[in-house]
Amino acid sequence: MVLLVNAPTENGNAWREMFLQLDPSLEVRVWPDVGDPAEVDVAFAWRTRPGDLARYPNLRVVFSLGAGVDGLLSDPAFPRQVPLVRMVDPNLGVLMTEYVLAAVLRHHCELDRYHLLQQAGRWEKRVRPFAGERVVGIMGLGELGASAAVALRGLGFHVRGWSRRIRTVPGVETYAGDAGLSTFLAGSQILVCLLPLTAQTRGILGASTFARMPHGSCLVNAARGGHVVDADLVAALDAGQLSSATLDVFETEPLPAGHPFWTHPRILITPHIASVTSLPTAAALVIENLKQWRAGGALRNVVDPDRGY
Ligand code: GLV
Repeated sequence: MVLLVNAPTENGNAWREMFLQLDPSLEVRVWPDVGDPAEVDVAFAWRTRPGDLARYPNLRVVFSLGAGVDGLLSDPAFPRQVPLVRMVDPNLGVLMTEYVLAAVLRHHCELDRYHLLQQAGRWEKRVRPFAGERVVGIMGLGELGASAAVALRGLGFHVRGWSRRIRTVPGVETYAGDAGLSTFLAGSQILVCLLPLTAQTRGILGASTFARMPHGSCLVNAARGGHVVDADLVAALDAGQLSSATLDVFETEPLPAGHPFWTHPRILITPHIASVTSLPTAAALVIENLKQWRAGGALRNVVDPDRGY
């Protein structure tokens, strides 16, 4: 079986070595040294060149290196008849949860505000509410959202979650669909976005969402830049409707020089580091899934390409 590592922005050889160590029976090739495209059975893909995955006529499964598959599915030539497996690794949840906790605590403890006061040389104390008096709203209750929600509950926050279809997470008030969105937003003082990027969620963090949140609330986006309407976010921050934002992801990455987010006093930027696929554990999960499938079992974590996750 030929597995092609097709991840031009990553260290393809490191993935190759790990795959071979875990399953020496595989033949692992690294893009662009593809050999005969007709021999490729399986692709391990991330940020592939547009049209590239359509070049393998006998491709039987695509594994995504990352949790979000929007980048692969946005390629109009992506072979949608081939099963696409997203990356589900508990380690992704561990890293994301740490990031969300750090960002939520930064807003909750008003470190963002004290940073601005420091720059103005001002010593101004304000008593903050207890975590149980602070409502954190999580958009997206998949693997990552649910893990962050449980950890925030553990710190005592009042946590609510919103997803397309209703989900149950212990201790978390859940809302779903368009019908539940306004009620969900109306109480969310710190809004955390961990949604998949789909046609339905693109631009969801825009003026109409911000207007429905409590005045002075905060935003954390660790999902995709395409969720945010950049100009609407700047306008909401400038008007005080939002008081602060932590952003890990951007429509164009790296965030272009001169983009207004770089210098906005109320925005903290991190360079898409909230959660990163860990090579050894992720490779082991891919090989395990592949082995079960080759033995006649079903592939786990297959994406519905129409739904987008
Ligand atoms: C990273 O952004 C991922 O989707 O895993």
